[in-house]
Amino acid sequence: MLQIKTIEEYQQAYQKSVEDPEGFWAEQAATFQWKKPWDKVLEWDFKKPDVKWFLGGKLNITENCLDRHLESRGDQAAIIFEPNDPNEKETIYTYKQLHAAVCKTANALKNLGIKKGDRICFYMPMVPELAIGVLACARIGAVHSVVFAGFSAQALADRINDAEAKMVICSDYNNRGKKHIPVKKVVDEAIAMGCDSIETVLVHKNTGDDLNWNADLDKWWHDEVDSQSEHCEAEVMDSEDLLFILYTSGSTGKPKGVVHTCGGYMVYSTFSFLNVFQYQENDIYWCTADIGWITGHTYIVYGPLAAGATSIMFEGVPTYPHAGRFWEICDKYKVNQFYTAPTAIRALMALGDEHVEKYDLSSIKVLGTVGEPINEEAWNWYNEKVGKGNAPIVDTWWQTETGGIMITPIPNVTKLKPCFATNPLPGVQLCLVDPDGNEIEGNDVEGLLCIKFPWPAILRTTYGDHERCRTTYFSMFEDKYFTGDGARRDEDGMYRIIGRVDDVINVSGHRMGTAEVENAINEHPLVIESAVVGYPHEIKGQGIYAYVIISDSVTDNEAFQKEVANVVRTEIGPIAKPDVIQVVSGLPKTRSGKIMRRILRKVASKDISDLGDTSTLLNPEIVDEIISGAGLK
Ligand code: PRX
Repeated sequence: MLQIKTIEEYQQAYQKSVEDPEGFWAEQAATFQWKKPWDKVLEWDFKKPDVKWFLGGKLNITENCLDRHLESRGDQAAIIFEPNDPNEKETIYTYKQLHAAVCKTANALKNLGIKKGDRICFYMPMVPELAIGVLACARIGAVHSVVFAGFSAQALADRINDAEAKMVICSDYNNRGKKHIPVKKVVDEAIAMGCDSIETVLVHKNTGDDLNWNADLDKWWHDEVDSQSEHCEAEVMDSEDLLFILYTSGSTGKPKGVVHTCGGYMVYSTFSFLNVFQYQENDIYWCTADIGWITGHTYIVYGPLAAGATSIMFEGVPTYPHAGRFWEICDKYKVNQFYTAPTAIRALMALGDEHVEKYDLSSIKVLGTVGEPINEEAWNWYNEKVGKGNAPIVDTWWQTETGGIMITPIPNVTKLKPCFATNPLPGVQLCLVDPDGNEIEGNDVEGLLCIKFPWPAILRTTYGDHERCRTTYFSMFEDKYFTGDGARRDEDGMYRIIGRVDDVINVSGHRMGTAEVENAINEHPLVIESAVVGYPHEIKGQGIYAYVIISDSVTDNEAFQKEVANVVRTEIGPIAKPDVIQVVSGLPKTRSGKIMRRILRKVASKDISDLGDTSTLLNPEIVDEIISGAGLK
């Protein structure tokens, strides 16, 4: 597979990918094992939308991630599992061992009645069994839907029901930092809310603490898996068969299930992995994301394994048992490529340089960031303190929907610019448009970021609701995929992501819909209406600011705030808890009844110098009340 090493190679590859996309991607795809070659490379129509890559091709992604490496690198570590507690020994899965574990698990799933096309939901901490389980699904053609284990029972139940999953795979408990979290209990609660499609809960024994056991549904992972054969024929999958669903938030309604399929996703995840991280034989690569998010899917599970890489999977948190834990792990394994989120960088930066200076980080060749805009101070710190000025930073922009990295520097190829995601990868045809959909040409311009040609890992649909996929991404601007982000193209033609232009906020790199948080807050019996906006937060990137109208006066404000936070925790999870809750008597509304969020955002950001035109408001007097209620007057 092409690994770009010079700027000329990048330019040539990019040009070829635009002039002859089918030829370009066919060349990359040819480096994989196909059970039957494709008949046609691409068919697409963004109006519907209908995108198909490698039509008629048959494959199994796990044969490409596992079987094809057995001969050449069977004894090489595929996954190095570093536990939460540094005093516990790491677990290493070689490619051979991982292959055997995946086959055994796949056989167990079959034995439990799982067939191609069935959906399986995962609710697990970062343990190797999560990666093994996901790959076992792919082995037999079951569709995995991983739900981040920080989500609440309600959020889990919603996702199980939307996907009509037949099975949940979970752990008993989870040790994360100092916390001991009852994971299966959340699954039990979700099922008690009504998840009729669930036939089995497969429980992985992680800590071995006491559990409630439901003999009708619950089965132990070890009882089902351990006795199985280490051979499992890989299901023949069509390129366009579903590989997984991953739920993500949008500006309206409940989270939607983004669907990725087998062929294109495999090609793009591997291509982007090899190029963005410049992975070389024997390198040790570490992505700190959770497999509950797309970054973990593409850059812990599929991309690195398909590329035959050795990667680290970490159970814990960056600050436990001390603030140097990340760097200690980098030193311990002599990590060569390190990929994390700006939030983590900012949090560690705030804890002081001594924690990073203690460790030998000279092995690091590439540093990556993802998930949210990185500010200049954090970029510089990452560059100087972690990379010692020697490790290029790849600021990678992409989304759950894009399946893989889209805009990024290529290490030692692209000229870096702090806070710029810089250039598109080959195959990614970007454009900026104005609100009327006119393409903005030239450089030194800003606009709405769109993509005008399909890349192999583009989402295919939103599960169970194709129309929602069309209206969300493809109806805003004709023949373009709309990202929801605004971006600037500078005088050198490099891209800087400004952030979401819709009602999506990004809190510690976690994507959330303001409507989703509002719906949760509105569940509180005293709340009549609420409006949620993001505001700049030093560590989290964005914090959550909630304005609420209540039906009765509240005497104990502190208790009320706690109650609202608890409702959000129950409905969504702790990650969606508002940082600030301001009680107001009304919300600024236009004559058509729309909340003027612009004003709310300004107040939340403590920036009231220019509130713009408020004369069109139905209730202009409310603005002053909100400003003084926020303590700004
Ligand atoms: O706003 C962009 C931001 O994260 C959004 C996608 O979130 P999600 O689907 O959860 O995927 C995150 C991990 C791929 C984008 O619409 N975002 C992602 N990466 C960057 C970013 N914003 C600025 N710079 C980035 N590098």
